[in-house]
Amino acid sequence: MKILVIGSGGRENAICWQFAKNANVEKVYCAPGNEGIAKIAEIVNIPAYDLENLANFVKENKIDFTFVGPEIPLSLGIVDYFNSWGLNIIGPSKNAAKLESSKIYSKQFMNKYGIPTAKYSSFSDLNNALNYIDTLEDNKRLVIKADGLAAGKGVHICSGKGEAKNIVYKMMSEKVLGDAGNNVVVEEYIDGQELSYLVFTDGISYSLMPASQDHKRVNDKDQGLNTGGMGAYAPAPLATVELNKKVEDIVKKVICGISQEKLEYKGVLYVGVIVSNGLPYVLEFNCRFGDPETQAVLPLLETNLSDICIAILDQKLSSLQIKWKDKLSVCVVLTSGGYPESFKSGFEIKGLDNIVDNNTIIFYAGVKSVNDKFVTSGGRVVGITSVADNIEGAINKVYASVNLIHFDGMHFRRDIAWRALSGKK
Ligand code: GLY
Repeated sequence: MKILVIGSGGRENAICWQFAKNANVEKVYCAPGNEGIAKIAEIVNIPAYDLENLANFVKENKIDFTFVGPEIPLSLGIVDYFNSWGLNIIGPSKNAAKLESSKIYSKQFMNKYGIPTAKYSSFSDLNNALNYIDTLEDNKRLVIKADGLAAGKGVHICSGKGEAKNIVYKMMSEKVLGDAGNNVVVEEYIDGQELSYLVFTDGISYSLMPASQDHKRVNDKDQGLNTGGMGAYAPAPLATVELNKKVEDIVKKVICGISQEKLEYKGVLYVGVIVSNGLPYVLEFNCRFGDPETQAVLPLLETNLSDICIAILDQKLSSLQIKWKDKLSVCVVLTSGGYPESFKSGFEIKGLDNIVDNNTIIFYAGVKSVNDKFVTSGGRVVGITSVADNIEGAINKVYASVNLIHFDGMHFRRDIAWRALSGKK
């Protein structure tokens, strides 16, 4: 079997790594990938948005199926395009990907199918949005969301009306997010803990993966700016059997909605929930694996990912028993100093070869190879994931490996999985 993975980050490294482990997989390609992923996959120099050349590559190389990592090619309709050429591809169609690419569509879908979520209003006119915010109660937190894709910068939690109006003005009038902020959602704030539920689906049936928890803020104790994710762990103890059942009820409604709306969905659905007073509310849908959650979740997968993909393509997911290791994993992301704001690149990453633990994996993201040495080339540089029988073991292992690595300006959080530990006290 030959597989093409689209994308270039730690998530795509984890996906390639899962495929490459299977003896039935002859070759894994990754486009555009990165030079760290090149250790396990052949790198293809085609950008993730170049649908035509990606399809040509798949045809020429007789690829059995393609797996899409990031949201941009999905929102551009890569699945519809590949399907029009009869090429197998894992991901939702362009219309289904609107569950992620339009926050307004996603909220309308949730309301239509009875999916618990925060109350909201949406606006395409700046003055209407500002006047609406004026009618709301003082001193209540509000969430402002840009309707379109904004590379993780589209959601703002505001302390009150003044800040909310300021953000709306920046999005709708100053166009700080370009067209992504032409329309906005104004949402009530729900207080609680966030959980990421990743779900395999063939559009008819579904299978939940172990719930994970991302760490979005750049510094320990959830301080500082929001990032693309500083680490994750799975399964999160907050995801009790009882809570998982409630989330499964939500997922059933989503799949039913997908079917009723006649959306084509063969891939991974990310259900971001917030748990408030023991009840899950959906914050967002993503139409793909999350990053860094995938770097924590996939090392726990026992069933071959390629078998799952074949079952998804054949719409036979319900007949596959997906197995997970009875273990815990922790992923710590090492970033360039200054990230998520400006940072310098080109620093040699030392110590990677010192990691020899079989239960620890390096997932490469912002790296380049120069004179046979890896140097930094992005904000999030590498993710280190360790797997162990318990959370303390996974934390100890992962930080022992992190301490072997060094590059100038290296930054990481020292408290990944703290909620799992505090839950035990
Ligand atoms: N970890 C959040 C995301 O992948 O969008």
